[in-house]
Amino acid sequence: MTNSESTSAASQGVGQRWSSRWLFILAAAGSAVGLGNIWKFPYIAGENGGGVFVAIYLGCVAAVGIPIMISEVLLGRQGRSSPIHTMRSLSQCAGASGRWTALGWLGVVTGFLILSYYGVIAGWTLHYVWLSMSGAFAGADGASVGATFDAFLADPWALVFYQTLFMALTIWIVGRGVTRGIEAAIRWFMPLLFLLLLVLFIYSLNSGGFAQDWAFMFDLKWDAVSSDTVLIAMGQAFFTLSLGMGTMMAYGAYVPEDANLGTTVVSIAALDTFIAIAAGLVIFPIVFANGLEVGQGPGLTFVTLPLAFSQMPFGEVFGGIFFLLISFAAITSAISLTEPALSYLVEEYNAKRQRVALSLGVICWLLGLGTVFSFNIWSDMMIVGDLNFFGFLDYLSQNIMLPLGGMLIAFFAMWLLPKELMYKQLGITNPAVGWAWRILAGVVAPVGVLVVFVSTLWPVLASLLGL
Ligand code: PHE
Repeated sequence: MTNSESTSAASQGVGQRWSSRWLFILAAAGSAVGLGNIWKFPYIAGENGGGVFVAIYLGCVAAVGIPIMISEVLLGRQGRSSPIHTMRSLSQCAGASGRWTALGWLGVVTGFLILSYYGVIAGWTLHYVWLSMSGAFAGADGASVGATFDAFLADPWALVFYQTLFMALTIWIVGRGVTRGIEAAIRWFMPLLFLLLLVLFIYSLNSGGFAQDWAFMFDLKWDAVSSDTVLIAMGQAFFTLSLGMGTMMAYGAYVPEDANLGTTVVSIAALDTFIAIAAGLVIFPIVFANGLEVGQGPGLTFVTLPLAFSQMPFGEVFGGIFFLLISFAAITSAISLTEPALSYLVEEYNAKRQRVALSLGVICWLLGLGTVFSFNIWSDMMIVGDLNFFGFLDYLSQNIMLPLGGMLIAFFAMWLLPKELMYKQLGITNPAVGWAWRILAGVVAPVGVLVVFVSTLWPVLASLLGL
C-alpha cells in the first residue's frame, strides 16, 4: 500500500464507535485500572510518605496525566484510526515531518513489551483465584504460604500454563471486536470489579485494622519523602493511566463526536485514582488486623494477603474475591494493550481481527516466556546492571518508553496539530481558555515529564558510562 493510499485508509478509519460516551469512560477506566492500582499503588504510597505521596501523586495526575490523556484521546478522535495511521495522517495534515509516525510505532512496540510480562503476572492472579477458593491456604502459616509462592515461581510449566490461559482469554475477547468483544467484557467486568471492591471494603472496615491503615496511607510522613518521590509518583501516574503508548489514542478513535473530552477524561482519571486509593484502604487493614508486616511488591499480594485471608473467617471466599478482582482489572488492561497494534494491522492489511489478534497473542506469548524464565531458570541472567529480562522490560517500558511517548504526544497535539483542529476537538471557543490549556498541556506537562525522564535516566546512563 502506498503512503497516500494508507493515509486515505486511515482517514476512513475502522469505522467502529463506542456505543456511548459512558462506555468509553468504562473502557478507558478498564484500561487504566489494573495491576498498577491494586498491586503497586497501595504499597508505594505507604512507603513513600503516605499522605505526602498521595498528594504529589494527585498533583501529577492533575498537572501531567490529565492533559496528556486529553491530548492522546483528541489525537485519536481527530485521526479516527490506529495510532500509526493517525500519526501519519495528522502529521501530513499539520505539515510536520512524516517521522512523527514513529510515535505510533513506539506505542505498538511498548504495548507488546508490557503485554508480554503483564500476561505472565496476571496469570499468577488466575492461579491464586483457584488456590484461594479451593482452600489451599486454610490454616496455613507464613512459611507455607511463602513456600507455595516460591514453588509456583520455580515451576516454568505452571507459569506458562496460567500465562497461556490469561493470554487466550485476552485474545478471544479482543478478537471479537470493539462492540462484541471489548464492550461486552467491559459491561460485565467493570461493574463486577466495583462490586467486589465494595464487598472487600466492608470486610476490611470490620477487620479491626482500619485506623492503622488510614495512618499508613494518609499520615504526612515527611521523613519518608526523598527526591525520588516525585519521580516515583509521576512514573506511577503514567503507568496507571495507560498513557504514552497510544492506548488512549486507539480508544479515542472510537469516541463519539459529541462527547466532551475534558469532562470525559477527568472522569476516567478520577475513577482510576479512586480505585487505587480504595485498593489501599482494602488491602492494608487486612494485613494489619492480622499483625503482619507490609511485604513488598509481589510478596504483598501473593504471600502476605493470602496469609491474612487464611487467618480470617470466610478467608477462602474473600481471598477468592480479591484475586478475581485483580484478574478482572488485569484483563481489561491487557485488552487495551493490544489495541494499537491490532487496529493498525486490521486497517493496513484489511485483515480479519480474530486472525490478527491470534498472531499478536502468539508473539506476545513467546516474548512472555522470557519473563516466565526470569523467575526461575534465567533469574540470574542480567541484561543490564542488576536487571534480568523481566526487570529490564519493566524498566524500559515504564521509565523510558511511556514517558517518552507521552511527552511527544503532548508536544505534537499542542504545537504541531493545527490550533483550530485542537480547539474544535475540545470545544474551546474562548482564546484565553485556549492559551491556559496550551500552557498546561503544551508546557507544564511535557516539561514535567522531561524532568522526570532525564532524572530517571541520568543515574542509569551515568553508571553505564562509569561517570
Ligand atoms: N494501566 C494499567 C495498570 O495500571 C497498565 C497499562 C499500561 C495498560 C499502559 C495499558 C497501557 O495496570
